[in-house]
Amino acid sequence: MPYFPPWTSVAEAAALLASGHIVAIPTETVYGLAGNALDPLALAKIFAAKGRPVFDPLIVHIADIDSLENVAQQIPESAYALARAFWPGPLTLVLPKQPCIPDLATSGLSTVAVRLPQHPIAQEIIRKAEVPLAAPSANLFKHVSPTTAEHVAAQLGSKIDGIVDGGPCTVGVESTIVAFEDDTPVILRPGAITPLMIESIIGKVKLKNSSSNPGEAMVSPGTMDTHYQPRIPLYYGALPKDFVIPTNTVRIAFGNTKSSIPASLNLSEIGNLTEATANLYAYMHQLDTPSNGFILVDPIPNEGLGIALNDRLRRASIKKLS
Ligand code: TXA
Ligand code: MG
Repeated sequence: MPYFPPWTSVAEAAALLASGHIVAIPTETVYGLAGNALDPLALAKIFAAKGRPVFDPLIVHIADIDSLENVAQQIPESAYALARAFWPGPLTLVLPKQPCIPDLATSGLSTVAVRLPQHPIAQEIIRKAEVPLAAPSANLFKHVSPTTAEHVAAQLGSKIDGIVDGGPCTVGVESTIVAFEDDTPVILRPGAITPLMIESIIGKVKLKNSSSNPGEAMVSPGTMDTHYQPRIPLYYGALPKDFVIPTNTVRIAFGNTKSSIPASLNLSEIGNLTEATANLYAYMHQLDTPSNGFILVDPIPNEGLGIALNDRLRRASIKKLS
């Protein structure tokens, strides 16, 4: 059954979450499908609603830095430095977990991913629920993350206990994930907190490539090559000279890139990466309809916030043009 608003209020959401239900909540990055991070039953409901395999661990959301030690331990000083610099905000830290965090939240890993979101509604809900909230992006497995409450309703409305509408997400892509491997900071997923911003606080940091290459262990399972895919084929990359553009092709432009295909939508006419990031998923949702046959996306500079955009677009793209 499709979900029809009225949306869930903050107070209702907190009460539902405190009693083991699952509710979609706004954050500044994308909407999250939240449940009590300490309750394995609530976590199981999250995996079931998303159709997400249980080997893909969840991010635990807290409302203040002091709560970090309730969910994580042996926290390196560099992690605290990043937390002080960028929390609340679009940064997730992977740290050794406290025993209270169920295996289902971490897919059996000894580490837990933790984030303090900036969205005031997210913070209020966590505070009122009085528990840390596990929340993956509120989309079906492998689908495009939601940046509005309507996106959530379309994908998950009939499968969850509520949706809080906090308006469109201001950032628009998922948080930057940083892990500490032998105390060396590694970016597992690029996001709005860029490598340069991280290096300005703690010095040199590695950027991990997609970990789903054959023969490589899956360190951060959500970083699979094909993630974030719309249902109709999207292609991101240079087109071969002899490529015949399929009928019903739509183009997502960036800035004033020249093309023989008219632009259906422009991520940012002035070529602004922040604006482009806030628009990307909404445009992918909007163009992902059967009347379109093929989505082409203009190249985006691979620097600053553009690193996260290129990462998501490469994963969303079909890998071969046939
Ligand atoms: O911005 C965000 O991070 C959003 C909002 C809702 O907070 N959440 C989000 O969650 O993007 P999700 O589940 O779609 O992505 C979480 C990513 C996955 O790639 C997962 O593999 C990784 O975090 N992850 C979670 N726990 C991990 C761990 N212990 N070690 C390494 N990667 C982990
Ligand atoms: Mg996700």
